[in-house]
Amino acid sequence: MTLPPRQEPSPDATPPRDLRQHPPPGKRYLRRVGGGSVTSTARDAPALRELVASRQWYHTLELAPGVVTPGWFDTRPVAPTLPIPASLRGRRCLDVGTFDGFWAFEMERRGAEEVLAVDVLDPRGWDWPAGSTDEILAALNERKDGGRGFEIAREALGSSIERLERSVYDLDPDEVGRFDFVYLGSLLLHLRDPVRALERVAAVCGGELLVVDAIDLPLTIAHPRRAVAHLDGVGRPWWWKPNIAGLVRLVEAGGFELVSPARRISMPPGGGFPRPPVRPRTLMSRTGREYLYGARRGSPHAAVLARPAQPHGA
Ligand SMILES: C[S@@+](CC[C@H](N)C(=O)[O-])C[C@H]1O[C@@H](n2cnc3c(N)ncnc32)[C@H](O)[C@@H]1O
Repeated sequence: MTLPPRQEPSPDATPPRDLRQHPPPGKRYLRRVGGGSVTSTARDAPALRELVASRQWYHTLELAPGVVTPGWFDTRPVAPTLPIPASLRGRRCLDVGTFDGFWAFEMERRGAEEVLAVDVLDPRGWDWPAGSTDEILAALNERKDGGRGFEIAREALGSSIERLERSVYDLDPDEVGRFDFVYLGSLLLHLRDPVRALERVAAVCGGELLVVDAIDLPLTIAHPRRAVAHLDGVGRPWWWKPNIAGLVRLVEAGGFELVSPARRISMPPGGGFPRPPVRPRTLMSRTGREYLYGARRGSPHAAVLARPAQPHGA
């Protein structure tokens, strides 16, 4: 990661609430991205359209007027409903597990002073259970494509967000500093040890954390207060799917306290979401039922806004 020279904050930037979140004098962790000025650049629309059509996308992103990626999820209608500050002016923001970068670009669009997007680009570095097949790894590798989607989007949007290849387990405040706002989306489900990941996020979070992750709907309905989770761990990097109370418990166990009550949301499918045929075989498998439900009603998620339970160094 390059460390460009320190720049003074613009006069209208919101003053930082906690100086410990910011680099010491003379040290700058990340490149500054000014005032959320995200504009489309470079490639002409037909070339961009061709590029978009040539690969798979996780996020639905409008890269230029009328050029929209067919993502697994279309998170665009969800963004305004989440407790992300309308203006992130003057804030350092972190997007953990960025994939094609929708949430990082959203934070930049909202005026963040700096955005760092971290990701593990090679799926072999994800948490795999024993017994996983080469086919599943190859399919995920093709979709991930070395993180190229993020690069295409960054160029098309004229974004200056920096992406750092780093596991959530290795987040270190000495390397990346502390952040005023952290977005952790649809990642805990894929981790063998979600609490350890949250502890590392707590170590770099000096402000607020928004966790938006998959939940088990039947368990949420059956157990509105008791923290429970469904364990997958069969063949693919899908681990714990908690009910809402379970997601809250994970966040608290990782070192956070709630800022507001957790809220159920639905993550809408995008143009690339799998739509299996309604056959007995599909209905017999849990994954098949999840895809059928997700394609029609969106994928059940919950949003949890939290802050570190204890100030660092206290
Ligand atoms: C399901 S996608 C979620 C994308 C995005 N965060 C969102 O909310 O829409 C999971 C992402 O987590 C990343 N990932 C997997 N294991 C990780 C790890 N240990 N640390 C950081 N990111 C990881 C994957 O590369 C992928 O980009």
